[in-house]
Amino acid sequence: MQTITTVAELRAALAKARDQRVGFVPTMGYLHDGHLALVEASRAQSDVTVVSIFVNPTQFGPTEDLSTYPRDFLRDEKLCRDAGVAIVFAPEAQEVYPAQYDTCVEAGELAKSLCGAFRPGHFRGVATVVCKLINMVQPDIAFFGQKDFQQFAVVRRMAIDLNLPIEIVTVPTVREPDGLAMSSRNRYLTTEERQRALAISRGLFAAEAELRAGERECEKLIAMARRHLDEIDRLQYLELVDAETLEPASNPLTHPAALCAAAYVGSTRLIDNVILKPQVSD
Ligand code: PAF
Repeated sequence: MQTITTVAELRAALAKARDQRVGFVPTMGYLHDGHLALVEASRAQSDVTVVSIFVNPTQFGPTEDLSTYPRDFLRDEKLCRDAGVAIVFAPEAQEVYPAQYDTCVEAGELAKSLCGAFRPGHFRGVATVVCKLINMVQPDIAFFGQKDFQQFAVVRRMAIDLNLPIEIVTVPTVREPDGLAMSSRNRYLTTEERQRALAISRGLFAAEAELRAGERECEKLIAMARRHLDEIDRLQYLELVDAETLEPASNPLTHPAALCAAAYVGSTRLIDNVILKPQVSD
C-alpha cells in the first residue's frame, strides 16, 4: 500500500493503473467498520482501491467540530493496509485548497432540506471536495455510506449534472450489534449518552416494522418512530422523504422512501435513516 499526500504523486501512481478499474472511497478518517464495508465493496467491484483521508474544512460550519473531529492517521493507515487498499491519499488542506482557491460546486434543491436546512453551506463543501477528489483520483466507481443518505443523493446528482464519468454507489449502513449506526462521532458519546442514542435506531426500526405490518400512511410511520425518541435530548428532524427526490413522501406510501433523523444526544449530533420499501404486491 502506498500513502500519498500530493496530487502529482497520486496522478503518477495511478497512471500505471489506467487499464484497471479504479474504485474510490472518500473518507474523513477515524475509520470504522462502516468505512471498511465501503472498502470491501470497492475491492469486490474494482481492481485498485483508493481511500482518501481528508477532514474537509469547507463542510464544517463555524460552530461545528472541525478542530475536535477525531483523527488517528496511523490506525487508519493500518486498517487500510489490512483491508487491501492500494493507495491512501491523505492531502494537507493547502494541497486541496491552495491560497488562491476560489471555486465551489453549489448543490441545488437536494441540499436544501434535512441536514441542509440546519447546516448552511455543508453540502456546498461536500460537493466541492468530492468533485475535486474525483477529479484527482479519476476513479471508475466511488462508494458512499447509506448513513449519509442526503450526501449520497447530492453526490449522485452532482455526478450526473456535471457529467463526471463515474458510477456512484451506496453501501448499507453498518451498525453496532445493538443497532447504533457506526459513525466517527460516536466516540464523543459518554456511556450513558451512547445508551440513550439507541433510541434513534430503535425508532427507525419500529417504523420499518410498522411498514412490514402493512401501514402505508406517512404520518403514522413517522409517529411510530417518534414514540421511541423521548430519550434523546433534541430531535432536529425526523422526516420521511422520497428516496430519489428527497421531497416529502406522500400517502399512501408506494415508492421507496427514506425515514431520516438527526438528533442531539448530549452535545453530539447524530444522523441515521432507514429506507422504507413498500412491496409492490401490498
Ligand atoms: O462522508 C464523509 O466522510 C465526507 O462527507 C466526505 C464524503 C469524505 C467528504 O468530505
